[in-house]
Amino acid sequence: MAIPPLIVAIDGPAASGKSTVAKRIASCLQIVFVSSGGMYRAFTWRVLEEGIDPADTKAVLEILKVTRFDCGEESGLGTFAVDGRFLTKEELSARSVNENVSTIAAIPEVRERLVAEQRAYGEANGVVMEGRDIGSVVFPNTPYKFYIDASPEVREQRRRAEGVTDSIAARDKTDSNRKASPLVIPEDAIVVDSSYMSVEEVVEKVISEISLRRE
Ligand code: CDP
Repeated sequence: MAIPPLIVAIDGPAASGKSTVAKRIASCLQIVFVSSGGMYRAFTWRVLEEGIDPADTKAVLEILKVTRFDCGEESGLGTFAVDGRFLTKEELSARSVNENVSTIAAIPEVRERLVAEQRAYGEANGVVMEGRDIGSVVFPNTPYKFYIDASPEVREQRRRAEGVTDSIAARDKTDSNRKASPLVIPEDAIVVDSSYMSVEEVVEKVISEISLRRE
């Protein structure tokens, strides 16, 4: 029987360090890394570029209908083009995107489209994917689920150190309280509080837990 692809789900609140950790884990395991948040950010950028108010769900859904998403991979990193356009890191973390992404991500139809793309990554060759609902909704059957947390103070500090203006408290609130796939800790997830851990320590912990479960 064929061995199913390895799928590692990493969830957590904004600026908990999950993205850095997930990237390193993917490289250790030699599978692709995907930031599902990047996908929500890219579509948000597209909505804003059209001059649409993100709170106008009807208009957002019209754009969703005609938008093409192309998922790919380059050097172990999942790539995501919106209508053929790859967005830069600066575009994806623009203040306007930070401020509106949670509103767009709360729309069930938007989630449905992007979750389908996310599953295709995992089913192809395995994936380390990070986000808010990866263990709870996107890949509920994987035994490799992690929830990377950190205190609100540490997370604010980490985001400031990156030099970007980010409304993480507001996003956390919207992400945790929305109806569609809110940020939750999956029952069977391993919780890692990274507040006082180095990136290496978190990576080591996650890799050792994966090894234990694979035996
Ligand atoms: O890097 P950070 O954790 O701050 O954010 P991100 O992963 O880039 O995600 C940006 C936003 O996308 C989140 O605040 C959520 O509103 C949304 N998101 C989501 O709803 N579901 C996911 N699986 C990933 C992100």
